[in-house]
Amino acid sequence: MKPVKVGIIGCGAISRAYFEGSAIFKILEIVACADLDHERAKAQAEKYNIPQAISVEELIQHPDIEIIINLTIPKFHASLNQEILNAGKHAYCEKPFGLNLAEAEETCRLAKEKNLLVGCAPDTFLGGGGQTCRKLIDKGAIGEPIAATAFCVGRGHEHWHPNPSFYYEQGGGPMFDMGPYYLTALVNLLGPAVRISGSTKKSFPTRTISSKPFAGTVLTVEIPTHLTGTIDFANDLTATIIMSFDVFGGHHLPCIEIYGTEGTLSVPDPNTFEGTILLRGKGETEWKEIPHTHETNVGRGIGAADMAYAIRSGRPHRANGAMALHVVEMMQAFENSSDQSRHLNLKTSCSKPQSLPLNLPTGELDS
Ligand SMILES: NC(=O)c1ccc[n+]([C@@H]2O[C@H](COP(=O)([O-])OP(=O)(O)OC[C@H]3O[C@@H](n4cnc5c(N)ncnc54)[C@H](O)[C@@H]3O)[C@@H](O)[C@H]2O)c1
Repeated sequence: MKPVKVGIIGCGAISRAYFEGSAIFKILEIVACADLDHERAKAQAEKYNIPQAISVEELIQHPDIEIIINLTIPKFHASLNQEILNAGKHAYCEKPFGLNLAEAEETCRLAKEKNLLVGCAPDTFLGGGGQTCRKLIDKGAIGEPIAATAFCVGRGHEHWHPNPSFYYEQGGGPMFDMGPYYLTALVNLLGPAVRISGSTKKSFPTRTISSKPFAGTVLTVEIPTHLTGTIDFANDLTATIIMSFDVFGGHHLPCIEIYGTEGTLSVPDPNTFEGTILLRGKGETEWKEIPHTHETNVGRGIGAADMAYAIRSGRPHRANGAMALHVVEMMQAFENSSDQSRHLNLKTSCSKPQSLPLNLPTGELDS
C-alpha cells in the first residue's frame, strides 16, 4: 500500500512518542514538522531524520501531505483541526478532541462536509492490553458485563512537565487529561454511554510549578481537580469513576475492573499499550494472568496509521472523531452534572471500534 505522507504540528514533550511510534508503521511517512517555536521543530527534524522543518502555515498548505497530526496544547486542538480540514487534509489530534462539545461537534461537522477523516488520541486501546481485554469480553470470558470501575488518581503534572500550565486551564485537569484514556477504554470494551452523574471539586485555587524551567510559577486553577461520578452504558451496565490530581499520598485503587456474571477482568493501565491482564472466574480464589493476544510493542502513532489504512482502503478508522466527540461529551458531563445537581442524558453516541485482527505482521494493521 502506498505510504501516506504526514506532517506533525507541535514538537513538544509528546512528539518524541509520535516520531518513534510512527516509524513502526510502513504506511506512515512523516515528511515535515512545525511548531510555533521553530527551533523545536528544527531540533526534532534533525533528531528523527524528518526531511523538512517548516512554518505551521507552510505545513498546513504543503501539497504532498495527506494527514496532519496535531500535537499542540488543548486550547488549539479544535481550531487547528478545523484549519487542517479547511486546507483539504485529514486531521489526527492529541486528546482532548475539544474543550467542549460545541467545538468538537464543529470539527466532526466540517470533516463530514469536506469528506475528510478526523481522528483523535488516545490510540492506546489498540495495543495488546486493550485488544486482549476486548477479545476476552467479546468471547464471554466474564459472562455478561454488569458493572465497571475506573480510577486514575495522582498528584498532577506540575512537578515533572516542562510547561504544565495547560493542565490547569480549560481542557486540562484530570478528566480532560486522563479521562480520554479511561473513557475510550470503557467505550472500546463496553460500548457507548447514555447517562452520567458527577460530583466535582477544585481543591486548591492555585498550584505551584516545581519542574524546570518554570519552578516557582504560581498557576491559577481553572478546572475541577477531583471528579467522581457514575456512567450508565447503553447496554445496561454502570461504571463508577474517580479522576484526580489531588491525591498526594498514594492509593490502592485499580485502573479499570469489569465485573461480569461469570467473573472479573482486571484491565491494565489504559495509558499504555501493554500491562498485566488478570481474570478471576466466579467462585475462583486466585487471579489468572492472561497472555496478550495482540501486539504490545507498538506506540503512539498506531491510531494515525490505522487512519492512513482507512484512507487507502476506504474502511472505517478506529480512533475516530465520533468516538472522540462522545468522549468529550462524557468528560464535560461530570462537571455539568455536578453544577446542576442532577444526572445528565447524553446526546452523542458512537459504535464500538472494530477490534484488530489477530496475528498482524509487525508494522501492519490490515491482515
Ligand atoms: N506530555 C505527555 O506526556 C503527553 C502524553 C499524552 C498526551 N499528551 C497531549 O499532547 C498534547 C501536547 O502535550 P505536550 O506535553 O507535548 O505539550 P508541550 O507544551 O510540551 O508541547 C506543545 C508544543 O506545541 C506547540 N504549540 C502550541 N500551540 C501551537 C500552535 N497553535 N501551533 C503550533 N504549535 C503550537 C508548543 O510550542 C509546544 O512545542 C496535549 O494535548 C497533551 O494532553 C501529552
